[in-house]
Parts: sequence; C-alpha cells; structure tokens
Amino acid sequence: MSATAVSAATATASPASSASSASSASAGRERLSLDRGWLFHLGDITSPEVKGHGASYGYGKAGFAWGPAGTTYDDGDWRKLALPHDWAVEGPFDPNGNLAQGYRPRGVGWYRRYVRLEPAERGRQFELQLDAIATNATVWVNGILVHRNWSGYNGNNINITPYMRYGDELNTIAVRADAVPMEGWWYEGAGIYRHAWLVKRAPLHVVTDGVHAVPRLGRDGRWTIPVAVTLRNGGHAPAAAVVEVQLHDPVGKLVASRRNTVAVPVLAQAVSTLPLTVARPALWSLETPQLYRVTTRVLQDGKAVDEVSLDTGLRTVRFDPARGVFLNGQHVKLQGVSIHQDHAGVGVAVPDAIWAYRLRRLKELGANAIRFTHGAIASEVLDLADRMGFLVMDENRNFNMSPDYMAQLEWLVRRDRHHPSVIMWSMFNEEPMQSTEAGYEMARNMAAAVKALDDTRPVTAAMNGGFFGKYSVGHALDVVGANYQVDVYDKFHQTFPDVPFTSSEDTSGFMTRGVYTTDHSKNVFASYDDDFATWGNSHRDAWEAIDRRPFVAGGFVWTGFDYRGEPTPNAWPSVNSVFGIMDLNGFAKTAYYLHQVQWIKSRPLVHIAPHWNWPGQEGKPVRVMVMSNAETIALSLNGRALGQQPVDPYRMNYFNVPYAPGRLEAIAYRGGREVARTSVETTGAAVRLDLVPDRDALDGDGRDAMPVTVRVLDAQGRAVPVDQSLVTFQVSGAGKSIGHGNGDPTSHEDEKGATRHLFNGLAQLIVQSHDDSAGDLVIDAAAPGLAPARLVLPVRRVAPVLAQPAVEAPFNTVNYWRLSPASATRPDPGQQLADFDMNTWEAGEPPMLRPVEAGAFRIFRASFTPRRQLADGSGTLHFLRLAGKAEIWLDGQLIGRKDEWAPAALRVKLPAGDGSRQLSVLVEGAPGQAAGVEGLVRVEPAP
Ligand code: GAL
Repeated sequence: MSATAVSAATATASPASSASSASSASAGRERLSLDRGWLFHLGDITSPEVKGHGASYGYGKAGFAWGPAGTTYDDGDWRKLALPHDWAVEGPFDPNGNLAQGYRPRGVGWYRRYVRLEPAERGRQFELQLDAIATNATVWVNGILVHRNWSGYNGNNINITPYMRYGDELNTIAVRADAVPMEGWWYEGAGIYRHAWLVKRAPLHVVTDGVHAVPRLGRDGRWTIPVAVTLRNGGHAPAAAVVEVQLHDPVGKLVASRRNTVAVPVLAQAVSTLPLTVARPALWSLETPQLYRVTTRVLQDGKAVDEVSLDTGLRTVRFDPARGVFLNGQHVKLQGVSIHQDHAGVGVAVPDAIWAYRLRRLKELGANAIRFTHGAIASEVLDLADRMGFLVMDENRNFNMSPDYMAQLEWLVRRDRHHPSVIMWSMFNEEPMQSTEAGYEMARNMAAAVKALDDTRPVTAAMNGGFFGKYSVGHALDVVGANYQVDVYDKFHQTFPDVPFTSSEDTSGFMTRGVYTTDHSKNVFASYDDDFATWGNSHRDAWEAIDRRPFVAGGFVWTGFDYRGEPTPNAWPSVNSVFGIMDLNGFAKTAYYLHQVQWIKSRPLVHIAPHWNWPGQEGKPVRVMVMSNAETIALSLNGRALGQQPVDPYRMNYFNVPYAPGRLEAIAYRGGREVARTSVETTGAAVRLDLVPDRDALDGDGRDAMPVTVRVLDAQGRAVPVDQSLVTFQVSGAGKSIGHGNGDPTSHEDEKGATRHLFNGLAQLIVQSHDDSAGDLVIDAAAPGLAPARLVLPVRRVAPVLAQPAVEAPFNTVNYWRLSPASATRPDPGQQLADFDMNTWEAGEPPMLRPVEAGAFRIFRASFTPRRQLADGSGTLHFLRLAGKAEIWLDGQLIGRKDEWAPAALRVKLPAGDGSRQLSVLVEGAPGQAAGVEGLVRVEPAP
C-alpha cells in the first residue's frame, strides 16, 4: 500500500515521515502494523476426509472452515514469529532440490494470528493488508474464506469488516502459503515475506490506493495535479462529505488546496476530482529528488473522518526515439541495474533498512536506474527510490490478461503511479508469445488497461526476440525493451526509427568476489570481466554497445547484486547466481569499480584490481586492471614506475606486473594534474577480527536493521583480503542477529546460525533492534587464532511502530452451536439428532437467548476439541453468561449445574479426555424471561 496514513501533525514533506506510517485515530484512520504476534507451522496440515451427512452439509458453509483455517484449531505448539518471514532461507540446502530456487525446499506453511477488537470499535471498517505472500495464498478470517491470490508479488488488501468480532471473542486470521508453485526461475522465498497491516477506517473513507495524484505539465507550461479521490461508504446511511486535498511543497509549506463535496450512497463508491495547480514548481530530479505531499481529508460535519497522504514529484520524462531519455528536458542515459529481491542472511524477508542500504550501494555505484525484476517490489522500496533519486522500470509479473492477472497489473499501476521514480511500466520479461498473434493481442489489451489508469508513462516490455514480425508485441509498446540481442540494436532503430528503444537487460557477466582465476572445478570466476553467459556480454562490451548509440536509452545490467538460485552456468554445489556487480551482501566485485568509473562523472576515480597478496607468486606476472574516469593513469610498485597509459573508458587499462610484495599504486591525472590515487598493499598475517557497522546507531523499534561488515586485520590494521576464518558471533543486549552471509556462491552454511566463514576476507552480519528497545546492542565475534572483536551499537529509544497488539489465545471458544426446539417438559439431554437432519435444530452462536413461551426447556449443543494442554483435566468450561437454570452435560455425563434463574457466569471443571467432546447445555427458563447460552463459552485454564 503506497499511501500512508498520517496525522496532521506529521504531514510534512520530511523524508523520514513518509517511510513510517504514522496514524491518528482522531482522523478516523489507523494503519496498524500486524507484523508481530504470528504463529507459524511449517508443512501442510490436511483435514480429515469429509464424509457423512452432517460433515458434508457443513463443509461448504460460511464460517465453517476446518482445521488450521478455522477458529478453534489448537495452534498452541506453533512457533511464534514476526513478519516479514521467509521460511525457505531458514531451511537446509537440498542437492536434489531445484537449482532455480537455490536448492531451498519451499513447500507449504501455515500462519495464524489473533486480533482483539474493542466493543467500541464496532462500526469501523477493517482491511487486512498482507503486502506479499510467496506464492499461492489462501486467507481465512474467523473461519470464512476471505481471499485467494496466486502471485507472490502482489499485495492482498482484504475487507474483513463484516466478519469482525468484538470484546472477549478473538478474531482469528489464518493464512495458508503454498510455495510449491513457482512464478520464477530465481529464488522466490516462502511465506508472508513483506509487512502486514490492519487498517481501521470510518464508514466513509478513501479506498486503498484511492488517491490518484499524478502531476502533469500542461502545454501552457503550468504544473497541475488532477487529484481524483475514490471514496467508499461502508456504513448504513447515505453519506455526504467534504473532501479536501492539500499540497505541501518539499519544505512542508502549504502551496495549494481544494475542497469538494461528495455524496456516497450506501455500500457504493464515488470519485471526487480536485485539480490542483502548482505555482513555482520545485522539480524532482536524480540530484534533487524533492517530494510534494498530497494530503486528503474527508470531513463530515466539519470533523475529519479520514485522512491519507502520499508523496509525489514533479518531473517530465520523455523517450526520444533518436536520443533516449530526457528528464525535465535534460538528457539522461539510463545507467541501470536489474535486481531481484533477496539479500544475504534474510532471503526475501528484507528489512526496509536493508533495502535502504542496498539502494545506497547502487547510488554509490553510480547507477541512476533500477529495474525491479520480474514483479512488483515492496512499496517501501519505491518510497526509497523516490527519496534517493532513481528511475524505475516497474515490472509486472505475469503476462496474462485473464481477470485475475489483469487485476494484478491494475493493482500495480494504482499502487505505484504517484511515485516520481517510476518512469515506465513493463508488462513482461522474455515471453515466448512475444511475436504471436495471441501475444500481441494480450499486450494490446494489457497496455490499454495500464493507460486507462495512467496515461503519463510509457508501456514497455523486456523482449528477447520477435522484434520484426507482423505480430511483434513491440507494436503494442511505447518503448521497446531488448534483453541482450546487441546485434538487433541497429537493425531495430533502422527499421523503426520512430520507436523509442532501450536495453531492458544486458551483460550477464560471471564474477566471484575476491577471486582472480577462473576455476571451473570450483565453480568460481575471475573478477576481470572475462566470463559471461553465451547470450550475454562482458560488462565492458555491454555498456559500450549502449553508450555509443544515442538512440539506446540506456541499459539494465543483469544484475546489481548476486541473488540466490539460477547459479548459471553451474549447478550444485553452486546455489547462488554470480551475475552481480556486487555479491549477495552488497560487497563490491571488480564490476562495481568498472561501472563506477564509467557512470560517475562528477568526481575523479581510480581503482585497482586485484588485491596485492600473492605469496608464492614472487616474480611471476600478475594481471593488473586499472579503472579510472580521468585522462591518464600511472602505476607504480613500491615507488618504481611501471608506466603511464591514456585511460580507456570502455576497455579499462591493463598492466602485467611481476609480483613483489609491497604497495601497488595508481595515480590518475587530468590535464597533467593528479586528481585521484589509490593503492593496494600486501598485508601481514591476520591477527584480529574487526566489525565495521554500516551506521552509527539503530532505532529501537524492532524493525531497524543494519549490516555489519566482518573482516580481519593484520598487525598494522590492514584488511586481509584472502582470509577464510570461521567466525562465531554472539549478539546480546538491545537487539539480535537476523542472519549473515559471505558472498560465496557455493556456501551451504546455515544463514541464521552462530558461525560463518569469511569468504575472501569478508562476511556480513545483519543485526536488528528488539521491539521497544534502548541501550546497547553488543556483538562479540571470535575466531581461532585471532584476537576477538566487540562492537557496541547504540540503540535509540524511538516512537514504537503503531501496531495492533499481539494477543495469545490460551483458550478456545466453543462455536458452531445447534439449538433444539423448545419443549414444555424436560427433554433427555443425551438425545441425538439424526446426522441427516439439518433443520429440526437451528444453528446459532452466542448470544443465544430465547423466549420461553413455546416451552421452558431447550438443549444447546456444540462439539469442541480442547487445546492439548487442557485435555488433562486442568481446564475449565467457562460460561461467560448463562440465562436460566442449566445442566451441563459432557459426553453423556452431568458435569455441572446452575440453579438460579438470573443470568450469571459459570465455571465447570473439564474432565480429562482427548479428542472431540460433545457439550450439551440443558437450559430451563423462567416464565416471562428469555433463557439460553447468552455469553461465550470458553475452554480455558482453571483460574
Ligand atoms: C535473462 C532473464 C533473467 C535471467 C538472465 C540470466 O534471460 O531475463 O531473468 O534469467 O537471463 O542471464
């Protein structure tokens, strides 16, 4: 969900405030985190086969979901955890598993979560938001099937208002995540791997993603935002309201506002349009990614009943068929990377703070564009792209125009269209139907659906063939994207000189970080940019082909980071890809420096590969690659000049240097003047461990996380690049470890355990603060033969993430009651109803009060299975309110009674016994009074 609810007090354009979703109950809306308090069961749970009259009859009824989907299931021994969660990354590797998924078994998992709502909340509207579930998801609330979604990349926004229970009766959310189906040929993780929310709103409210606010520059040179707000009335009476939008500029000043009246019939939607004009626009750009905030309020009788804000930016993007992309009229070559969404240690359950780290690494690389392959990315990541200044190719997962999939595409556009970073919609990646008549028709229809929701951005697709045929999907696109196919670039432009063109994917180079000799027996590739996929190119060739052609808008290197799965061109023991410019941790390979000098123009740079630790190679030539964006470079070893070369901006510069330990130094010159220098030095033996935090402190909100670099130093404090020590971690105090990695694509180490080998001198530990914490997070690292390291990270007390409290359910509620007809005389409480009789006894749930005129006696009957810990005789049956006299019968035994007419609570000891128990409550009412099981009946521990 992209629009975040904010109170008036937080409605500034400060970058931090758009990431955290503050909310205000007084404004009617709360968006509460549901990340905490989940129970998890790995593996499927199948219910017994449905057989017989009664069971079959009840099976398909609303509210009657069985087993773990239902309300009464005993989840007492399930694991407690917090979201985001990826169970695949927790498991072992399986050599017989699928290499595409990184040899990680996926399977099926169940999640359950209880929610308690106050009686005073009755009347509000409730939406359950599960931001992504890998892969096929089924969701039940209080035993009712409420949602199904067959994509691991889409948000699940579910109106659960009608089913809510208030007060003592808890609400049960159950999710079955089936990660057996795959949508990709890369690691996809498993489970509820993004955030979860409970959104509470007034009956009249703005629907999710219901503020359409995409700025436009008119022909008259004026910026407008034609805001359109979609409201829904979930209440019982027609609603009239004033809708107000306010626009705050990047420094938080109110610069435009507008009001409109709207009438919304009961259970209907209405759209209110409120065009805003922006005077003195502050443009969004890569260097100054300035954001405007659009705040929408719904006012009834002068009081705000709903409020929602989003950030957007004013910028123009134009794709020119001859000259590429123009952002605000300025030419920008797309220096892009394609990335998947997993990170070391955490799989696809990547904390927002680790995304911030990843995008910062891309910024440092000099990338200005990101293609999030091959499906919708978390909205928090797009918020970061907006704030940091990236151009995004926003990609749809499934090429399919059937209603389910069309809804996924439309969801993506609706959610993301306000983001200034998003510059094009990609409908697919490399689809075999891309040059068929059916494929063309699908693309045409899908592009039209996108245009109906956003006509300001081009539609593209990542094609890997079929560019020239009659039914090329390209004919349905605004910008044609080519994956690889460098030999098609010129032909395409000659054939279609009026069609904008970009590389949507290129390169696919192989590099292993810190390795400088390709060794196929070990599945490792030298970091010299020599090895690449047969369909791809070296980093240098791919960029040269793009950069030398003005009509190619730019490129998206496959990939910015290594990712799990698809260990091309290898298989087991390789479990990760090695395409990355960086490894799975975000540690630089040579490709990083190579692109950095090609992409960064604003400051002089010079880098050397490899490191200078080659014991035993004395006198033998070492191939040295020098990378710079200056004019000339000079190399020296231990002060001895090795020569000067003019910088080759595409190929880079090479020297063959006979190895001698010491210091290899490169100096870069412009106009004869030194502008940058760098060196690599032979280190001594490793003597101590070192922990380098990425930031100074953590926020104590249980969400903030940071990578800590683990390395070893020699006696002079120099990092030893060839070390492979086994490090043991202990994390204590105000936080915890949530995983680690080392970038070794063949490592099968447990990513969550206490130990990790360094790989070529580096590992990364990811730590996260505890909920509501303050103080110190302490990391202790030890390795044989090395002095240990301790890092103390301050954890700051911050406002907690607004959350729906986690509740435990130590009891079950007895549900699914049947009520006998009234009788004037005392019936046999053990009488049984024929299994095929669905109608003589009515169904009901408390409160069940019945008048006694028709007869004073009635049997209230239900079956229940006590939670395991209560089946030993330690439990009680707790009747919160029984009206009338009552006899309590369990499995044919009288176990308790109530002898007064007046309504009262009753506790009865639950005799020991396993399995399903049949409870019959024989109630006798006094004349003139209603009688029955008025309150809930709970099976709970004895007080
Ligand atoms: C492309 C594909 C990517 C990845 C890459 C590996 O064809 O779009 O998802 O598989 O090849 O080189």
